[in-house]
Amino acid sequence: MRSEFIQRLLVKKLCSRHFQHLQKHFICQTAVQMNDLHNTRSRPDVRGAFHMPVMKTEVVQIFLQHGCRRIADLTFGAGGHSRAILEGLEGSSILALDRDPLAYQLASQLQQHFPDRLTALEGRFSDLPRLLESQGVEGGSLDGLLMDLGASSMQMDTGQRGFALSLDGPLDMRMDADKLPDQPSAADVVNSLDESDLAAIFRKYAEEPRAHRIAHGIIQARAAYGRINTTKQLADIVENLGSSGLDKLGRYSHPATRIFQALRIFVNNELNELNCALEMAHHFLKLGGVCVAISFHSLEDRIVKRHFHEIDLDEEKSLSLKQKVRLARPADSADELQELTLKRWQPLFKKVRLPSEDEMASNPRSRSAKLRAAIKN
Ligand SMILES: C[S@@+](CC[C@H](N)C(=O)[O-])C[C@H]1O[C@@H](n2cnc3c(N)ncnc32)[C@H](O)[C@@H]1O
Repeated sequence: MRSEFIQRLLVKKLCSRHFQHLQKHFICQTAVQMNDLHNTRSRPDVRGAFHMPVMKTEVVQIFLQHGCRRIADLTFGAGGHSRAILEGLEGSSILALDRDPLAYQLASQLQQHFPDRLTALEGRFSDLPRLLESQGVEGGSLDGLLMDLGASSMQMDTGQRGFALSLDGPLDMRMDADKLPDQPSAADVVNSLDESDLAAIFRKYAEEPRAHRIAHGIIQARAAYGRINTTKQLADIVENLGSSGLDKLGRYSHPATRIFQALRIFVNNELNELNCALEMAHHFLKLGGVCVAISFHSLEDRIVKRHFHEIDLDEEKSLSLKQKVRLARPADSADELQELTLKRWQPLFKKVRLPSEDEMASNPRSRSAKLRAAIKN
């Protein structure tokens, strides 16, 4: 057993690394890959858990229209998209990745049905270079790539995984479950960080306007009652701080909704992983290959948009190509100027695609989905 002191130090170190990485959006984390321990001890019980793939028809249609056959599904989940692609695209083959051990188990099961057409891979986006290399996949060789971001219903609807504020369970939220021994859980974060770090997480990953007040309340609750171990404890603490519980559109949502989102993004390093995935997509797709990304909140969508529309992540505001060329220093070399005008991606649509009214009605989780797609130039 690690002492609490060592655990606090570890969480603090990992947390400060998250922030450093956030400032360098484009830097992938391949250098800090940890060894996966294929530990299957605490596989969650998923009886009854089910994930409905979002905008499945649109995804298959895009790959079909562009003649994609060799496709990587980076977010296999329960395999809804992969299955639809295998069934809808004759002669297609899929490299199916997921960091969640349960999703990997499901992908391995599907591989048994399609032994020549599906290869299950376990790991994170930042593990892609190693995983694809082990399969002999070279840069510039894939026709299509899909990322359907966020958590799956299997993760959200299984109380033991600790993602959902409506289901009591351990405050965990690690998509990798307990594969990576050094990865802090949401409980480690909530119980180890000081007020200003917690507030920074709530502000940065959920744009929570009451970030400081909630962080202060958590510190006080820790002092009064000891360690916060469960989703219900955290949800109650935030609720008792008093809030209207109304979202921007005036609809009711639990006051802790944004806090849970922020912790999940932080624990799983989701935004850096997404940046990495988009860089990897560009590397592994062939010229003319298509990348499809479905995002579920504005932070994710902003990153996808910035990649596909060539907006520098460090720029305060987005500049048009003309403005960039105009602002280029006279000393800029011809190469640098050419680089400015060379587009890495060609977006397939001007605007994001949204699910149909029917889909939103039959699958409420699809309501916040935004689909963007782009061709590699
Ligand atoms: C919304 S679900 C995908 C559902 C899937 N498209 C389906 O039809 O069942 C997102 C999945 O992506 C996985 N995931 C999220 N971030 C990841 C990352 N950085 N690396 C690998 N998998 C990731 C999650 O574990 C989850 O299973």
